[in-house]
Amino acid sequence: MSSTASTPTPVTSVTVDLGARSYPIHIGAGQLAAANIAQYVQGKKALIVTNTTIAPIYLQALKDQLQDKQVDTVILEDGEQYKNLDNLNHIYSQLLLSHHDRKTTLIALGGGVVGDMTGFAAASYQRGVPFIQVPTTLLAQVDSSVGGKTAVNHSLGKNMIGAFYQPQAVIIDTNSLTTLPDREFCAGMAEVIKYGLITDAEFFCWLEDNLSALLQRDSVALAYAIERSCINKAEVVSADETEQGVRAILNLGHTFGHSIETFQGYTGWLHGEAVAAGMVMAAQLSVAAGDMSAEELQRTEALIEACGLPARPPADMTSEDFLQLMVRDKKVLDGQLRLVLLKGIGHGFVGADFDMNLLQQVLTDACSA
Ligand code: NAD
Ligand code: GLY
Repeated sequence: MSSTASTPTPVTSVTVDLGARSYPIHIGAGQLAAANIAQYVQGKKALIVTNTTIAPIYLQALKDQLQDKQVDTVILEDGEQYKNLDNLNHIYSQLLLSHHDRKTTLIALGGGVVGDMTGFAAASYQRGVPFIQVPTTLLAQVDSSVGGKTAVNHSLGKNMIGAFYQPQAVIIDTNSLTTLPDREFCAGMAEVIKYGLITDAEFFCWLEDNLSALLQRDSVALAYAIERSCINKAEVVSADETEQGVRAILNLGHTFGHSIETFQGYTGWLHGEAVAAGMVMAAQLSVAAGDMSAEELQRTEALIEACGLPARPPADMTSEDFLQLMVRDKKVLDGQLRLVLLKGIGHGFVGADFDMNLLQQVLTDACSA
C-alpha cells in the first residue's frame, strides 16, 4: 500500500459531458427526498419502474416528490433472471394501458437490473422518451446508472439486446445503501475496484487504505468512493459514449464475468462477484503477457478477497466452458476476441493480439486452482 491520502471532502455533483445530452449525477445522503426529482420530469406523466424488494422501502418517498404528476408504477419480479424481453413487455403494457405519450418520463428506482430494463424501455417506447436513474445499489450508483448502456439479457448471452440511451439525470441517495444486503454491497465493490485498476492508481491505493471504513459503510468514505467512481466513469463515457474505443476498458473482467453469469443461467453468482473473478483472470493474463508485475496481481487479489469477493472462477467451470462463452462477447470484432488487460494498476487497455495459448493456460490454471 502506498497512499497516505486522507478522505477528501466529497463534492455533490458530477456532470456527464455529452454536449446537448449532458446530465448531472447528484450524490448525497437523503437525495431521494431532497433532490427535487420533479424538475427533470417535463411532461405531466411519469412511470416509476421498480421491483418487489425496493417498492416497499423507497417507492413512496419518490412518489411524494411527484405529487403534481400522474404517476404510474410497474413493480417487477426481483432478479437478474427477470431481465428479459418478457418482463420488458410488462413495462410497455403499463405505458400503453395508462396512455403514456412521448412526453412521459420513465424513472428507474432500483439496482442495475431495474435501471438497464427501464433505460431500454425508455429508449424504445414510442422511439424514445426521457428517463431518470435513481440507483439504490452500490453497483448501480457507481456504474450501471451512469453512461447510458441499457439492455436485457437473452438466454444465449447477457445484455445482448439493448441501446445506448442517456438519462436526464442520475439521483444517488447514499442513504439507500443502509438497507442493501452485505453480499450486494460487496458485489458493488468489484466495480469500485475496477476504476482503480483501469484508470486511477491513486484511487486503488486509497481503497487499500480505507477499505475497512468502506466495508463498515462509513458515510464519508462511501460518498467519496461513489463520487470518485462516477468521476472516473463520466470521464470515460464523455470521451467515448458508444464504445468505439476507450470505453471498452470499463469492461475489465466482464468478458470472463459474463461467461460465468451465462454459464450459471443468471441465477448463481452476482454480476459483481463474476466481474471480481474476471478481473483477477484479466490480471493473471496481463502478468503472463509481461504487462503487469506479480506484486500488482497479488495486491489486486488481496483487495478483492478483502471485500469477500471471489478471486477464482466457479469450481464447476472448465476452460472450455469459458472459451465457448467468451467468443460470444460483444467485444468480439470480425471473429477476433478482444480483452481488457492491464499495463499495471491504473492502466487498462484493450488487447486483441494477446497469445491465445496464454489465455488457454490462464483459464486452465484458474479453473484448476
Ligand atoms: P440488482 O439490480 O439485481 O440489485 C441487487 C439486489 O439488491 C436485488 O435483489 C434488489 O432488489 C436489491 N436492492 C436494490 N437496492 C436495494 C436497497 N437499497 N436495499 C435493499 N435491497 C436492494 O443488481 P445490481 O448489482 O444493482 O445490478 C446488476 C445489473 O446491472 C446486471 O444486470 C448488470 O448486467 C447490470 N450492469 C449494467 C451496467 C451498465 O452500464 N448499464 C454496468 C454494470 C452492471
Ligand atoms: N459498465 C460498462 C460501461 O458502462 O461501459
